Amino acid sequence: MRNIVILISGGGSNMAAIVRAAQQEQWERKWHARVALVLSNKADAGGLQWAHEHGIATQVLDHKAYPSREAFDAALADAVAAYDQPNWPALVVLAGFMRILTPGFVQRFEGRLLNIHPSLLPAFAGLHTHQRAIDAGCRFAGATVHGVTAELDHGPIWEQAVVPVLPHDTAQTLAARVLTQEHIIYPRAVRRWLEQA
Ligand code: GRF
Repeated sequence: MRNIVILISGGGSNMAAIVRAAQQEQWERKWHARVALVLSNKADAGGLQWAHEHGIATQVLDHKAYPSREAFDAALADAVAAYDQPNWPALVVLAGFMRILTPGFVQRFEGRLLNIHPSLLPAFAGLHTHQRAIDAGCRFAGATVHGVTAELDHGPIWEQAVVPVLPHDTAQTLAARVLTQEHIIYPRAVRRWLEQA
């Protein structure tokens, strides 16, 4: 069995979209894959409750409880590695996980570490993507699912979705439009990853 570990920090709507797709598309039967753990660095992340209600194990690792980024990432790596199975290393899915991972963590999980970023990478890596797209006068915006490498918001692109930027958009209205597409492309990217694994 391939365990999927999803890391969140907030509402977890992308996590929920992946869980729903896994159930509806029977990932367990087709790819021997299941969402085994939802882990948050914040105890009040709304997605934890949703995951619990859907029968998924949850865990909180509060980054503030660790003296350094390296110490937190070491604990995080241990928590994820607990879900490795012989010949089936866990897939790690970052879904609104608002922590920058250390090179050591990324190196250890490279090739099985996916992230979603709310822009059309390589444009607008980093924060405030929607406002920056509006300020730049972009006619289109979107989201990208990519493999995580040592360089922030880079790495091989698995899926992208494009939405229009409308004349009176604010960062909030644009983010909401992009998010609906994230819920489509993230499950699709994970499915494609499982197919090639
Ligand atoms: C998404 O827009 C994601 O791209 C960004 O944070 C948001 C997370 O939303 N990194 P959710 O927690 O999946 O609802």
